Amino acid sequence: MNNSKNNSNLIIPNHVGIIVDGNGRWAQEKGRNRSAGHKAGAENLKKIIRHAFNKGIKILSIFVFSTDNFKRSKEEVDYLMNLFVQMFRDEFSKLKDENVKIVFSGKEKPLPKKVLETMKDVVEETKHNTEHILNICINYGGHAEIIDATKKIHEDIIKGKLDINDLDEQTFSKYLYQNLPPIDFLIRTSGELRISNFMLWQLSYAELYFPKTYFPDFDNQLFDEAILEYSRRDRRFGGINYENKNH
Ligand code: IPE
Ligand code: MG
Repeated sequence: MNNSKNNSNLIIPNHVGIIVDGNGRWAQEKGRNRSAGHKAGAENLKKIIRHAFNKGIKILSIFVFSTDNFKRSKEEVDYLMNLFVQMFRDEFSKLKDENVKIVFSGKEKPLPKKVLETMKDVVEETKHNTEHILNICINYGGHAEIIDATKKIHEDIIKGKLDINDLDEQTFSKYLYQNLPPIDFLIRTSGELRISNFMLWQLSYAELYFPKTYFPDFDNQLFDEAILEYSRRDRRFGGINYENKNH
């Protein structure tokens, strides 16, 4: 298993997924516009990323924008796109010096050119980093990821690069947007009890956690509580834990 023990009680998951949710409601409840919620969410995300890596989490996958989020108003989408550019430029280039490799998952179309360019720069600048991986899921959909992988597999079979009989889980993973280990722990803020098409392949045995807090208020302390909760889970991967008398 990939988990590393930090002390006798705390188990630090190797790969954590976060579905950022509740920015809009956070703002609405304060009588502010949705953009204010996204800004506060972005500020919080910076803190959470640092905190998670400092705790020893190796890989973070963050769902910041789904393909379906393009259904939102042009005003909101434009605001988010500008926010991403700012964040990728300023914050993510700082992570370069902290040995974080930044990668992106999702489809390029119809992301604006300025967003794509900034993403490319960040990937290029951090590609040799080795300590942590930050996987930003933007214009991402889990079904699309699996379909895109299947198409690439089909191409390789036609080219004679892959024998269908050699296709197993490990080989399939290599055709996904990023070849990452499975997600151990998924956090979705705001109380919604859904996966919403996020990393369907990678979530197969993830522990799920749904705090009610809106993302802008999901601070380091609440993150620590989440990790404590993860540490209490009994992960059996379909097997039986004979040491635990309750099962
Ligand atoms: C998540 O917050 C941020 C993004 C999807 C970019 P929401 O915008 O979904 O906030 P709610 O769900 O409307 O409160
Ligand atoms: Mg939402």
